[in-house]
Amino acid sequence: MTTAVAAGLGATLLSSCGSQQLITFGDMASGYNREVAFMSIFAIALSVIIFVGVSYALFFTVNKFREDKNTAEPAQFHGNNRLEVILVVVPVIIVMFLALLTVRSMAILNPVAEQSTKIDVLGRQFWWNFSYPETTANAGGNVTNGNELIMPTKQDVALTITSGDVIHGFWAPNIGGQRAAMPANLKTWNVDTDRAGIYQGNCSQLCGGSHANMRYKVIALDQERYDTFLAAAKAYRAPEPATRSPEARGYNLFMKGKPSTGALACAACHRVQGTTAAGAAGPDLSFFGTRRTLGAGMWEAMTPEHWEAPDAKAELHAWIKHSPKVKPGSLMPTYDGSEYLVTGKKVKGGVLTDREIDDVAAYLRSLKLPEEADYWNETPVYGSTDAADNTSAQTAKTSSPTPGGNQ
Ligand code: CUA
Repeated sequence: MTTAVAAGLGATLLSSCGSQQLITFGDMASGYNREVAFMSIFAIALSVIIFVGVSYALFFTVNKFREDKNTAEPAQFHGNNRLEVILVVVPVIIVMFLALLTVRSMAILNPVAEQSTKIDVLGRQFWWNFSYPETTANAGGNVTNGNELIMPTKQDVALTITSGDVIHGFWAPNIGGQRAAMPANLKTWNVDTDRAGIYQGNCSQLCGGSHANMRYKVIALDQERYDTFLAAAKAYRAPEPATRSPEARGYNLFMKGKPSTGALACAACHRVQGTTAAGAAGPDLSFFGTRRTLGAGMWEAMTPEHWEAPDAKAELHAWIKHSPKVKPGSLMPTYDGSEYLVTGKKVKGGVLTDREIDDVAAYLRSLKLPEEADYWNETPVYGSTDAADNTSAQTAKTSSPTPGGNQ
């Protein structure tokens, strides 16, 4: 019964071109949600009992003490010490009891165990970085991924959440509670799930023009697959492009830009593990080719061809060419010569030809983890009506590019 009631709590279906995802804090695979559901059902049940009790007392009193003939003035009296004491003491006991239960839940949920898996979460306008502070990559630095959070199942995962600019909200309801990401503030919270799967996360704090376009995916993997991912991610070095290939030309543009037309180097803002690109102003792109979301979840490339599918390629091309046009508030420079904003001032962007943009895209698509570490493979989308959802769904534009669009 508990499960049935809880399953309905806050359930939302996100659909995008036939693929569906169930977002709910009634997901009982998470110990956090189980505790919250216990608290909620208990508090609701208690409220129902109080409602019935108070209603009964009201009707009983009105009925018993009414003046039927309505001829004489009703009996006049005031003050009833016993009743007044009861009416003060009973609610105080109820409130204290609920407070105790809340403190008990907090004592269970909040402590971060030493042996928890630790992941650092950074929110920025309008994307997320997830980095693994206990890893040291062979190529240097910590393993980091943009907008796709990979975590192990069946254990507490300690997220240390912060923001690089304004206040954001980290919320993936299926794995735990909503948490504020605040600048200059590091706070660690647990999330957990017993079930391997793909879950949706959103920014839950209004943070600017693309607040609704600040999404992420949580990919929960069973221990063995998680270990495989983490080992491959630690060993990962971005592949060396073959000489004179599109990837090689893209690599050069990525690292150096094109100074003759004012096109800025991507490497100034993005990190790619195993190269000299170590920028931190934008999302980590080390595993871009393995990722299946673009623009912090604005687009998904879920067909078997992923970024090689023609429509996915078109989205990627448009994204590199003029990111602020397809995502309001994006801080990426433009590469079609149009103006974009840098700290409120209009700046003219550099120019890359369409072929050069495709070369950069080809380089990005080549940044792949080894096949066995592809965390999307065979990981079911939770709540999907289609068992093979993550391989058969269409490339979908999942949100409106207008400010304050859907959420
Ligand atoms: Cu970040 Cu809303």
